[in-house]
This record gives sequence, structure tokens and C-alpha cells, in this order.
Amino acid sequence: SWTMPNYIEEAVAKIREQVGDEEVLLGLSGGVDSSVAAALIHRAIGDRLTCVFVDHGLLRLNEGQMVMDMFARGLGVKVIHVDASAEFMHHLEGVTDPEQKRKIIGREFVEVFQREAKKLDNAKWLAQGTIYPDVIESAGAKTKKAHTIKSHHNVGGLPETLNLKLLEPLRELFKDEVRQLGVALGLPHDMVYRHPFPGPGLGVRILGEVKRDYADLLRRADAIFIEELRNTRDPARGKSWYELTSQAFAVFLPVKSVGVMGDGRTYEWVVALRAVVTSDFMTAHWAELPYELLGRVSNRVINEVRGINRVVYDVSGKPPATIEWE
Ligand code: XMP
Repeated sequence: SWTMPNYIEEAVAKIREQVGDEEVLLGLSGGVDSSVAAALIHRAIGDRLTCVFVDHGLLRLNEGQMVMDMFARGLGVKVIHVDASAEFMHHLEGVTDPEQKRKIIGREFVEVFQREAKKLDNAKWLAQGTIYPDVIESAGAKTKKAHTIKSHHNVGGLPETLNLKLLEPLRELFKDEVRQLGVALGLPHDMVYRHPFPGPGLGVRILGEVKRDYADLLRRADAIFIEELRNTRDPARGKSWYELTSQAFAVFLPVKSVGVMGDGRTYEWVVALRAVVTSDFMTAHWAELPYELLGRVSNRVINEVRGINRVVYDVSGKPPATIEWE
């Protein structure tokens, strides 16, 4: 009969058989899929796995630290942490078009990853956290000529030019199975059950031109929002508002509005809060968060994040709005 320990044992044996005594490279994004793939492959081949974690400067607060703590310190996985934020910011300078921003972030990502990959010339395999729905989706895209509203970039989408064999140990699993596997492999529950985060990161949550200062403000506002969602429970359903929403985040609006602080006038940036409930991310409802929770987040953001004097809540469904603002 099917059990998780049996599954892990089989998956580990399969990876060992496939890889033999060769070395494997994996692009770690901090997302669930690449993290679980890393943990599983590490269980199978230990030090012959090297992960590359590219920080594009558009990650959530303390995300780089968290990934390094969890993998490098916690599980003893070899992780190369590349701080490429200066390079990404440079290439994004003056760019305001959402699609162009996505393309630049995607292209830079591949470039940085390839540069790191070349240094590890022993690697014969490229591991990816492709899961079953991705397999279906890309098969569909080939035959149907997908109608794309946004060009999606996943950290997984690395090119063939690396000349590496592909290792995709999660190809047969659905998302919830990947999560269960992650927990069984020792990844923290909160990490494994995190909301999805787009490949281009805060790059699509800072409207228009991306600047480091904006990213810094946004990271702090977003962290406050997420912390309050995690700490506020809906007593009727016995769950936190983080669990009751499918995705939630802050968006930086590059407009200034007038405010008042003490007896002075302020003229500062606006942050929008977005929280949605959805089962497939194709359509979504805005989450009916309690006013009290929204009020607390607003007060904290305005008091704690200098440079923001106004917080608004997004009450748009998908369609016609999308979940991300870009
Ligand atoms: P939209 O904004 O299209 O988002 O309603 C639907 C879901 O997709 C995520 N998203 C992305 N994920 N790379 C990703 O990996 C991307 O470029 C990207 N754009 C949107 C979004 O966060 C939401 O979960």
C-alpha cells in the first residue's frame, strides 16, 4: 500500500539510479517546488547536489536569509547564494512597461544562473521542480498555442543551452502531494504551505519603474501584512486569515498623496493591499478580510514604514482585474 516513507524510498532509489555518480545542479527559488525537489535530491545524493539561489533584489523580507538558514544550515545542502540585485536593478533602470520588465527579469535570471553553472563544470544534470500540472500545462500550450495575458517566468524555465540532462523528480506529483512530501522530508510546515510568489517577484508589485528604495519599502509593508494575516484567526473557522486566503501581498504605487503627521504635512507613497480567495488562480474573489485586521495593518504600515502615508485595499475580482497588478 502507498505510504509516504515508501514513496520517498522509491523516489530516492530512482534518483540514485538515474544520476549514478554524477553531479546535479538546481536553481533554488525559495518556492515550494524547487525547495522540495532540493530536499529530495539531497536525500538521494547528498553533496553531489549543488543549489544556486539567485537573489534578484525583488524577494520578500529576509527571504535570502531564510533559504540559507533552512537549506545550508538546517539540512546541510550545498547552496551558492548569488546576490545579483545590483545587476537586476541596473537592467531595470528606466523600464516601466510590465511585459518588458518581466522579460528583463527572466533574461537576467537565466544569465546569472548560466554564469554560476559554468563555474560548476562537473555538473551533468539540471534538476527542476516541475510538477504534474506544469507538465500538462506546457503540453497544452504547445498544441493550443496558448493565449497569454502575461508572459510567465518561473525560475524553472532554464534553457537547453546549458547542455545538461534534466532531472525532474516531482513530475508525477500534484501540489498537495509535493507539500506532503516536503513536510516528510523535514521542511518547515509554514514554508511548504506558503502562498505562491511569482518568479519576477516584487518586480511586478512595484508599478512602473523598479527602484531599490521602493523595493525596500514594499518588503516591509508586505511583511507587516503577512504577519497580521498569520496572527489573526477567524474564530468561526478556526483558521488564520493567511490560511483562509490563497494569496496576499502589498503593492507599491508610485504616486504621492498628502497626509498629516503631528502638525506637519506629509507627501508620501501609497501602498495597496491585495488578498484573494481562489481555487485555480484563473478566477479569484477579493478576500473579505475583517475591517479590524485591515485597520491594524494600515496603522502599522503607516507608523512603521517611513515614506508611506496611505494604505488602500484592492476590491477587484479576477476577471476583470488580474491577481498581480502587472
Ligand atoms: P495573475 O496576475 O495573472 O496571476 O492573475 C495568477 C497567478 O500567477 C502568478 N504569476 C506568476 N507566477 N511567474 C510566476 O511564476 C510570473 O511571471 C507570474 N505572473 C503571475 C500570480 O502570483 C498568481 O498566483
